[in-house]
Amino acid sequence: MTALKNDRFLRALLKQPVDVTPVWMMRQAGRYLPEYRATRAKAGDFMSLCMNPALACEVTLQPLDRYPQLDAAILFSDILTIPDAMGQGLYFESGEGPRFRKVVSSLADVEALPVPDPEQDLGYVMEAVRTIRRELNGRVPLIGFSGSPWTLATYMVEGGSSKDFRKSKAMLYDNPQAMHLLLDKLAQAVTRYLNGQIRAGAQAVQIFDSWGGSLSSAAYLEFSLAYMRKIVDGLIREHEGRRVPVILFTKGGGLWLEAMAESGAEALGLDWTCDIGSARARVGDRVALQGNMDPSVLYANPAAIRAEVARILARYGEGTGHVFNLGHGITPEVDPAHAGAFFEAVHELSAQYHR
Ligand code: CP3
Repeated sequence: MTALKNDRFLRALLKQPVDVTPVWMMRQAGRYLPEYRATRAKAGDFMSLCMNPALACEVTLQPLDRYPQLDAAILFSDILTIPDAMGQGLYFESGEGPRFRKVVSSLADVEALPVPDPEQDLGYVMEAVRTIRRELNGRVPLIGFSGSPWTLATYMVEGGSSKDFRKSKAMLYDNPQAMHLLLDKLAQAVTRYLNGQIRAGAQAVQIFDSWGGSLSSAAYLEFSLAYMRKIVDGLIREHEGRRVPVILFTKGGGLWLEAMAESGAEALGLDWTCDIGSARARVGDRVALQGNMDPSVLYANPAAIRAEVARILARYGEGTGHVFNLGHGITPEVDPAHAGAFFEAVHELSAQYHR
């Protein structure tokens, strides 16, 4: 494999010195980019795009070609590939978000679920990782990812997106045995899936716990964090002679940073509701931090974007251990020029904190 030309993303996650704060953005390949919409049209629909390794590679590289400042690439795929490979029948209704043909509603449903083999059942994702690594040719590191067991379970039990998590929370309290078995199977599936991505060439991995923040503190620790910890314990931590850092991102997880910092992950993703300076003081040297600009700031003008970047950099303060990102994914309505202003500001304004 070719040597990495830009490794400041991996260095910051491991709290090694960097010249400027690295930056990437959740959903950086997506609908705000006209070139993405053109490739998706060529593929036909979103899932066909995910299942075509050459086109998934093409859209992964689009933001890197447009924005030379980006310090990492993220695999183009979706977190719902795992429930699909477990036989749930994923489809996207246009404008409606994800849906499943089968829902999980009883212990018997959970018992019947298979744990997918990444190379056999999710080979298209593994092939996309290999293709992207080849095409990146060492430009920047490639991030692999998965959903957290709790987040995946909500989609499988609800049959799609949900605002109140009525069915998944009812199962958690009515039938904790079924919920624990589901989460345990998902933790096994995610561990194998992420290890498959690492063997195929992912150089860091992020676990998206998008809905952990909907839980009570007690339920978060028992039904979400415990399973992410199990995954971290089972991951390949060295590959190609380098550490493979793990980033845990619980949206709405600001209350639980101390517990998350004990999980064995190298870094925690922060949404925009917490102050990154206080978060740093709370986790100390145990983990790096990734985040945490409100994605809505990108609707504002470039001078306002720059001011918000400056504020967050100042709150984090001197030294390494910060990967700049949004607190959640970029939205489709953002002007691509505003994303460019964001990345430029991070590199320009952060050098003073790394002398
Ligand atoms: O960050 C990246 O650029 C990598 C690609 C990526 C996608 N989804 C592509 C995508 C990643 C990391 C995800 C993760 C994902 N998928 C999450 C966790 C992150 C988060 O946002 O909290 C979740 C909850 C999903 C499930 C999912 N996939 C939903 C709810 C939707 C519909 C949302 C919407 O905005 O319509 C998707 C579809 C999806 N995944 C799109 C993209 C680019 C939009 C599909 C399209 O092109 O129409």
